[in-house]
Amino acid sequence: MRLKIIGSAAGGGFPQWNCNYRLSRAARAGADGVRPRTQSSLIASADGDGWVLFNASPDIRQQIAVTPELQPRADGPLRATPIRAVVLTNGDVDHVAGLLSLRERQPFALYAAADVLDVLAQNSIFNVLDPELVPRRPLPLGQAIALRDAEGDETGLVVEAFAVPGKVALYLEDSSDPQADFGSDSGDTIGIRIAQRDRTDAAAFYIPGCARVDEALGQRLADAACLLFDGTLYTDDEMIVAGVGQKTGRRMGHISMEGENGAVASLAGIALGRRIFVHINNTNPVLDENSPEHARIRAAGWEIGHDGMELEL
Ligand code: MLT
Ligand code: MN
Repeated sequence: MRLKIIGSAAGGGFPQWNCNYRLSRAARAGADGVRPRTQSSLIASADGDGWVLFNASPDIRQQIAVTPELQPRADGPLRATPIRAVVLTNGDVDHVAGLLSLRERQPFALYAAADVLDVLAQNSIFNVLDPELVPRRPLPLGQAIALRDAEGDETGLVVEAFAVPGKVALYLEDSSDPQADFGSDSGDTIGIRIAQRDRTDAAAFYIPGCARVDEALGQRLADAACLLFDGTLYTDDEMIVAGVGQKTGRRMGHISMEGENGAVASLAGIALGRRIFVHINNTNPVLDENSPEHARIRAAGWEIGHDGMELEL
């Protein structure tokens, strides 16, 4: 199985269009060790020919332009794509907006949790994806299924979706409810175990959004070949300290890398082949490869995902 991170930044990307924080400025200036990144997306393939897209980011057009695996084959028909299916991990803008760029009457299958499919159904703009061509299929939770393309042919990938602590998409939050739980695991945000049909023991876990690591999640991840995990923030109050926002990571449904209950500490005791941060926000100091924070995370055994990073399982 081949995997490629085609977008390693969180919503907004890096640099973010309206951001003047030091990191976005450094990325814009082409500073050494500060790579620009597009928004949150991963691709996987069992045969290197057909690909499944995990999350459709607003940068999908640019991502396809720099990813030959996702481009029409030179000897293919006049309208073609190697993208057989799209799988969504939640309804966030950075994960669904790219669907609008995948119109043009092109068949592929769309998989998401039932709640997220409901959100798409309630937004008629997504009807640009004609259900006749783009069947929408609910992803069951806690059950491995073979991903199939629009025609029903197997892609060779098997996925199992499971709820992780998270929250509904920002645009669905009920701001009148101060007691709202932004760390529930009601299935608004899912993680996905990705494996190849004939080698289901070697799996990659893709979890770009997660509020905390609970016992169930820790057990599920044990001995995984690879984990691609929520690396939104380095510290919980990072956006407040940077002066770019009022929200903590906790309030946004994102765990931090550092701290007692952070990702590094929470996952330290879990055996994993590789552990890689993705969905990295433009305030996260690890984006600067010359920073002490970057060095600390690398020393803890983690890799910092970047666009174009390839994995083979
Ligand atoms: C998130 O990851 O929290 C969301 O992508 C935020 C957003 O929708 O802007
Ligand atoms: Mn996001």
